[in-house]
Amino acid sequence: MKRIVVFTGAGVSADSGISTFRDADGLWANYRIEDVCTPEALRRDRATVIEFYNMRRRESLTKKPNAGHLAIAAMEEWADVQVITQNVDNLHEQAGSKRVLHLHGELMKLRSESNPNLIYDINDGWEQSLDAKAEDGSLLRPYIVFFGESVPMFEPACQIVSEADILIVVGTSLAVYPAASLVYYVRDRQVPIYLVDPGNPDTAMIRNPLTHIKERGAVGLPQLIEQLKNEFA
Ligand code: OAD
Repeated sequence: MKRIVVFTGAGVSADSGISTFRDADGLWANYRIEDVCTPEALRRDRATVIEFYNMRRRESLTKKPNAGHLAIAAMEEWADVQVITQNVDNLHEQAGSKRVLHLHGELMKLRSESNPNLIYDINDGWEQSLDAKAEDGSLLRPYIVFFGESVPMFEPACQIVSEADILIVVGTSLAVYPAASLVYYVRDRQVPIYLVDPGNPDTAMIRNPLTHIKERGAVGLPQLIEQLKNEFA
């Protein structure tokens, strides 16, 4: 069985109606990272940060996986598939993908402010109240990797990429590090890399054979995956 690693960014969820970050109408056109996505922001203006993630959580509850997520999940019928996502939504899981690593955290979880390993699922609703506390008595915060924080899942992600026979990269500008550098951790220069993205991600550093499918995920992924299935299933 081919080992296929799928590395996704905000673009894979764009066809489900979730905004990306750096496109013209993206989230970072309307919010400043320093106001909502840094540890300093959480200290300075906790209410704004928590409200930002409450709004994103409320929005995400109305969204459904699209044809791209579903094609990735269906690939498990004939390949050994691991998804690594920068996204904090759970649309890969909703589509049926069984092995999903979240590099930047998960919207439907909260964690203790002082203990990153004390993590709670939000099973009901979308709202984190400002004064909700963890068992250790600390305030809860969104389970999101903020800018300036370390990315604890990066090393396991590197290991997964190094075992890939094929790497598929979807809907990411490859602008945020260390996540973007995952493409360098393929086993050797022969491993083919497929990129599905209607825009122009920063591929300057990719040395492997690269096929850029300039389509949105809901169109390009089912096509690519059908082609790979015909070749390898
Ligand atoms: P970006 O917003 O930087 O990039 C989105 C990518 O999706 C671009 O390359 C677009 O061309 C592409 N895209 C747009 N519509 C698409 C569609 N329908 N189908 C496929 N691709 C499409 O998002 P990311 O690269 O995911 O981090 O951003 C990386 C990180 O920056 C995020 O995880 C987030 C953000 O700040 C944190 O919040 C910690």
